[in-house]
Amino acid sequence: MNYYYIETFGCQMNVHESEKLAGILESRGLTAVSGASRADVIVFNTCCIRDTAEKKIEGNIGELKALKRSRPDLIIVISGCMTQQAGRAEALKKRFPFIDIILGTNNQYELGEKIDALLKAGKKIISIDNADKPAISEEVPVFRTSFPNAWINIMYGCNNFCTYCIVPYVRGRERSRDPERIISEIRSAVNEGYKEITLLGQNVDSYGSDLDSGMNFYKLLQKIAEIDGKFRVRFMTSHPKDLSEEVIKLISEHPNFCKNIHLPVQSGSNAVLKKMNRKYSRERYLELIGYIRKYMPEAGITTDIMVGFPGETDADFADTMDLVEKVRFQNAFTFVYSPRNGTPAAAMEQIPADIKKSRITRLVALQNSISDEISLDYLGKTYEILIEDEEGGICAGRTDSGRLVRFPGDKEDIGKFVNVKITKNKASSLYGEKV
Ligand code: 5AD
Ligand code: SF4
Repeated sequence: MNYYYIETFGCQMNVHESEKLAGILESRGLTAVSGASRADVIVFNTCCIRDTAEKKIEGNIGELKALKRSRPDLIIVISGCMTQQAGRAEALKKRFPFIDIILGTNNQYELGEKIDALLKAGKKIISIDNADKPAISEEVPVFRTSFPNAWINIMYGCNNFCTYCIVPYVRGRERSRDPERIISEIRSAVNEGYKEITLLGQNVDSYGSDLDSGMNFYKLLQKIAEIDGKFRVRFMTSHPKDLSEEVIKLISEHPNFCKNIHLPVQSGSNAVLKKMNRKYSRERYLELIGYIRKYMPEAGITTDIMVGFPGETDADFADTMDLVEKVRFQNAFTFVYSPRNGTPAAAMEQIPADIKKSRITRLVALQNSISDEISLDYLGKTYEILIEDEEGGICAGRTDSGRLVRFPGDKEDIGKFVNVKITKNKASSLYGEKV
């Protein structure tokens, strides 16, 4: 066994969890390869947030059948959110009998021991921990793959049960990590040369509410602000019901905190927000946007929006369009509602597909035109960019506000801060030159 291949589907949480799966395999002497065909161990780290994700993953698993037939020693592991849904692991095993190991979201740390068990006994393995609050496994080595960014979990799970969302069912209740562990992980990453720290949690603003110490997100950010060094801090995801003016102000006051807030709104209609169990109103949301603009006028604000939630009327959708025009998001991730088995909204009366389609088309067109207009504000100005990537002599990196900028540069520059003057905007991309 020499080589492994990990394919990650879904969110940044999964990207980071794949770094832990990689850490386990690396610690056993395996090396990553860039395609499944050469690997001895293949891991799919899966997502189930929408039906489109699941369909794609099922297609990709199906394609492994021929590979496994030609190389029976190949070990195929399916892990993550998709496997954690009720009855899903057994169903996957039945449909794809060539899968060797299925690991739930809270069983990924077992990857090494389960490979050993498979090799020893030759029997297929399913390991799914369904506890509401599974223990946090702190001892897993991390093999980081996103330099100069280091992903760092501050919490796991979600308590919110938005009625459309599968996440609380597949990731359990909120569990906050010990603040000292978080701070020491950030310090190590900064000492190793990482220039961007992204704090991860399903709802970072409620960090600490399950700890006895009186810890909260504000206090955690204060501790992070005390760490020496030039590095950026981002975090995701904030929830409008929990984000406070205090936190917004703190972010505005410290240079290491990026002026970039991702604040999913989901809908601009109070009636829909209520049915979604979001626990805030459009008025409260707009008030928070007001605080962000007041304390950091240059901030990049991004969001997630869903159309076609059960019962969404033309008037509800018009409220969403109106909110989008009022807020003027830098960027929005837009989704068509997808019923998820076992969630309350899946049992509500659904909206016809053609209405969903027409709404998403109109929403995307509106947001694109706003994003284009915001891009114009960047033209001719100079921004500090952290270089994240290089391909064919073109570097890519982000402004503090989160906008991606491309410009000529070298691979050796990855991880450096440079000043770039924006000279051109095309579609949603900005282009510039180092100054
Ligand atoms: N259908 C469509 N979009 C969804 N999201 C979450 N659940 C669903 C669903 N069932 C979207 C939300 C969330 C983002 C990560 O995915 O907008 O913020
Ligand atoms: Fe899902 Fe809502 Fe939790 Fe976000 S806050 S993970 S949308 S249940």
